[in-house]
Amino acid sequence: MTDTLDIALPKGRLGEKVVKLLGEAGMGCELGEDSRKLVLESGDGSLRFFWVKPADVPIYVERGAADAGVAGKDVLLELGADVYELLDLGLGKCRMCVAGSPGALERPGVLRVATKFVNIATRHFQSRGRAIDIIKLNGSIELAPILGLSDVIVDIVETGTTLRENNLAVLEEIMPISARLIANKAAFRFKHEKVEALCAALSRIL
Ligand code: PRP
Repeated sequence: MTDTLDIALPKGRLGEKVVKLLGEAGMGCELGEDSRKLVLESGDGSLRFFWVKPADVPIYVERGAADAGVAGKDVLLELGADVYELLDLGLGKCRMCVAGSPGALERPGVLRVATKFVNIATRHFQSRGRAIDIIKLNGSIELAPILGLSDVIVDIVETGTTLRENNLAVLEEIMPISARLIANKAAFRFKHEKVEALCAALSRIL
């Protein structure tokens, strides 16, 4: 293990907010997302940041390629990642929901559910005792009920605009979602001071 604390950050909107937060906490560095560089170091070399796909952050952290990271609760639950969840950063707040046309849940028989979140959706409908046919998609999930590919979707709702503009509605709320600071279990033990310092600096400004 090196002395540097390696941190996996999610590319995109959430990542930009995290960088701002790290800057406010005095732990940032020049993390221009315009740059195609995937690895960046803080001025004093004590922190190293990686830009990764949001859904991959828990994989890097669980396997120890990164000591810590920032991941959405949605991604953590979907992957069932074996990592420590240290802090709710209160960023990227949204809701995991079942959505569709009003009345879609009342349809008899096996419910066709389109989603990126296969495990979350399966668990949700299992807890309701409802038989489902899962259709795994990778994006633009809202198209599925519009085109008759599915009866409902399980997806993230943030502002609700996508649903509204496509004449769909939230039918059930599964859980609130936000971004979490996570740590690799071994790093938490062997780099405890550094992980604690990161956690403390972020807690102070939340
Ligand atoms: C996410 C999500 C919804 C949308 C919700 O999609 O899957 O489609 O945002 O946001 P809203 O409630 O503010 O409209 P994303 O933009 O990540 O693209 P995707 O279609 O690739 O999933």
